[in-house]
Amino acid sequence: MRLIIMPDPDIALRLAASEIASHMTSSRHPVLGLATGRTMEGVYGHLAALHERDGLDFSTTSTFNLDEYVGLSQDDPRSYHYYMHDLLFRHVNIDPASVHLPDGMGQDLDAECTAYEAAISRAGGIDLQLLGIGDTGHIGFNEPPSPFDTRTRCVTLNDKTREQNASMFGGDPAQVPHQALTMGVGTILEARHLLLLALGTAKADIVAKALEGEVGPQVSASAIRLHARCTVILDKASASGLS
Ligand code: F6R
Repeated sequence: MRLIIMPDPDIALRLAASEIASHMTSSRHPVLGLATGRTMEGVYGHLAALHERDGLDFSTTSTFNLDEYVGLSQDDPRSYHYYMHDLLFRHVNIDPASVHLPDGMGQDLDAECTAYEAAISRAGGIDLQLLGIGDTGHIGFNEPPSPFDTRTRCVTLNDKTREQNASMFGGDPAQVPHQALTMGVGTILEARHLLLLALGTAKADIVAKALEGEVGPQVSASAIRLHARCTVILDKASASGLS
């Protein structure tokens, strides 16, 4: 694991964006695994700026997002479809047909998850998977316990996660959907490279558990330590719990 601790959040965000950009420029048909959440907002801002200012080309890039809530339509401002369109896709020259997120409105969610895995395989697998970390130690929405061989599936969200994400739902955890579709830990571990980004003091404890605690299904982010090509970018605050 390559651990990089940056002096402040913006430098960490810039580094994450430039790592993604260099993966994109080193492949003719890059396949990116994307994450959402507050941490990633700045990454997408910097990527959009790299497109605008330096001509970073998205025209041959395909994307697969980690997760989506069950029961939110794509044009619902609280959905991850909307988030991605708003923060990244509408600002860059990506082909809409190359953008993939699980469909949480599907009639048959199991079939949707199977189809999502098949689409990742058809694209040749994910080159670089971007990851945040939740208060429960989740990557994607892999709440504890999530065995490391799990695949894309429908999960029930932990109450702590629904609290963590309440700001998008008028501050009321009761409004946060109870279920989501997420890539599994096994799906994530198959990406050729992983890039986990965490910022701020609120992440310090869970970052320390993930990077220095026991490796196991109680903290799904600990799985990244089993991956041969994994980069972790932290700011000083999120690294403050490390020994
Ligand atoms: C969302 C996702 C989650 C978030 C995590 C951190 O697609 O995969 O694992 O990355 O919950 O969220 P923030 O950045 O809002 O703290």
